Amino acid sequence: MREIKHPHAELQVYRDIPTLSRAVADEFIRVGRAALARRGGYAVALAGGSTPRASYALLAQDERGKGTGLAWDKVEVFFGDERPVPPEHLESNFRMAQEALLSHVMVKPERVHRIRGELEATPAAAEYESAIKTTLVNSVRDIPSFDLILLGMGPDGHTASLFPGSPALQETTRLVCANWVEKLGTSRITFTFPLLNAAAQVLFIVAGADKADMLRRVLKGEPSGATYPAQKVQPTTGRLLWMLDEAAAQQL
Ligand code: 6PG
Repeated sequence: MREIKHPHAELQVYRDIPTLSRAVADEFIRVGRAALARRGGYAVALAGGSTPRASYALLAQDERGKGTGLAWDKVEVFFGDERPVPPEHLESNFRMAQEALLSHVMVKPERVHRIRGELEATPAAAEYESAIKTTLVNSVRDIPSFDLILLGMGPDGHTASLFPGSPALQETTRLVCANWVEKLGTSRITFTFPLLNAAAQVLFIVAGADKADMLRRVLKGEPSGATYPAQKVQPTTGRLLWMLDEAAAQQL
């Protein structure tokens, strides 16, 4: 692993996706063990999409083997965003995490907080925000603070379901909201920047050459001054860690 210096973030670069995925799983365990030792709980928000799946599968494999040392019954699992689909749908972020990880570890079902994507987006977002407020014990400037939020980044610079030009980019009060995504022609439910930036640690997992150009724009800035959603994830007091593979980092 090599590190790249950056004024506002820690950048770690791994030679390939398997090595990156292992490192992400190890970081998930490290943060969890520390949180559980500190306060007997671990509040984590999982990323959707496809990149994190390998890390989730490694955590499940670890648990079946030597163990992760995580008290899964004390882990509160949330999701940074969800598509407008039911949990059994192939596009469901919940389904992906359930298949790769959650069905293989002793997490308590009542502590897996699913975004009800099958409902109308606005009430589902409000319901989810309430669940976060009643479940999380830590806060930063009165905003609930996750021990760890995992995020991915799209080639357009979106993260969670905060897409370029979408209304939720301007949200400063709500912690979770329905967000109309023009290019997808649908609403999604997503964490907002206030919630993301209250986290004790945010971990971006980005892999693949198709992300390289946007990663350079996000991490090194655009001469035009244009900004992208992923750039607005700047934890108020927390740690910002980007874990990349060489393909994604090739323009840094
Ligand atoms: C989603 C994710 C989204 C994802 C990025 C990267 O619901 O799709 O929340 O933000 O993290 O699109 O996805 P990949 O990891 O599949 O490239």
